[in-house]
Amino acid sequence: MTPDLSVEVGTVRLKNPVLTASGTFGYGLEFQPFLELAELGGLVTKGLSPRPRRGNPPERIVETPAGMLNAIGLQNVGVDAFLRDKLPKLRAFDTAVVANVFGETEAEYVEVCEKLDGAAGVAAIELNLSCPNTECGGMIFGNDAASLGAITRACRRATKLPMWVKLSPNVTDIRETARAAEAEGADAVTLVNTFVGMVVDVERRRPVLANVSGGLSGPAIRPLAVWMTWQVRGAVKIPIVGMGGIMTARDALEFLLAGATAVQTGTVNFVTPSSAVTVARDLSAWLSKRGIGSVREIVGTLDAGRAS
Ligand SMILES: Cc1cc2nc3c(=O)[nH]c(=O)nc-3n(C[C@H](O)[C@H](O)[C@H](O)COP(=O)(O)O)c2cc1C
Repeated sequence: MTPDLSVEVGTVRLKNPVLTASGTFGYGLEFQPFLELAELGGLVTKGLSPRPRRGNPPERIVETPAGMLNAIGLQNVGVDAFLRDKLPKLRAFDTAVVANVFGETEAEYVEVCEKLDGAAGVAAIELNLSCPNTECGGMIFGNDAASLGAITRACRRATKLPMWVKLSPNVTDIRETARAAEAEGADAVTLVNTFVGMVVDVERRRPVLANVSGGLSGPAIRPLAVWMTWQVRGAVKIPIVGMGGIMTARDALEFLLAGATAVQTGTVNFVTPSSAVTVARDLSAWLSKRGIGSVREIVGTLDAGRAS
């Protein structure tokens, strides 16, 4: 028996629940030598801003125990170049293309959403309201439920595309921002973005990253991300796309059981660029071995009852 891996994140149908995470998979096309893009549930583009951005100066990445710290600073080609040069090529692949959106102001978020609206081949927009690595924007909006709600509302008016709101873990209670996103029309929440951290070069007595701080990702954050997924599952009705340190199908299952309808893989793409496809295949094998006909049957089935 081959299990049915298809899921629906709101109105977005995915052939399997494994997408690649924004910023770890370029614009998808770069990964063609390593995997069949059509085998992905979907791919999320690098964050797109109204104009091209060069990002932060180096050092921008440093390895950490069980993870990495990055401060890329949202380098990207800009939404116009994405629509002109990348999207037409991506359309050839039978996979969901999710456009990750970033702006320094509310008006910039709206501008990018308007440009993407109606673009053939964009399955959904993911609003990055959570990037820790730029001076303005991102986390400033995402840390506060009221400003996150305001941007979500403005973008909701700017596009008919399904809209996912990506949440920051750098908050006191992630359920508050999740609820604000839902209240203002998000079709799904995606979580989590990276955790703010710092690595020190002890000889130079300086931070390793030129930006001083960076965002921590990889297996080091997985238990934190799974916990937040579980918390948000209890707080909102809209679907959740979960991520944070997923390396294997077993890791993906933690998020699915905790209530995520789909997952994204990020840092693992730097280690093994074909891994998202392996995660999907191994997920199928896991379900098959247990006689489970559809991945949808296991979503949110975590039994959190305490042992007596
Ligand atoms: C190098 C790098 C760049 C990233 N760029 C973005 C980005 O542009 N937009 C965004 O929403 N998230 C970005 N992220 C966050 C990831 O999409 C993901 O939320 C995070 O890394 C946690 O997943 P992981 O532990 O599987 O990597 C980036 C992460 C890394 C490591």
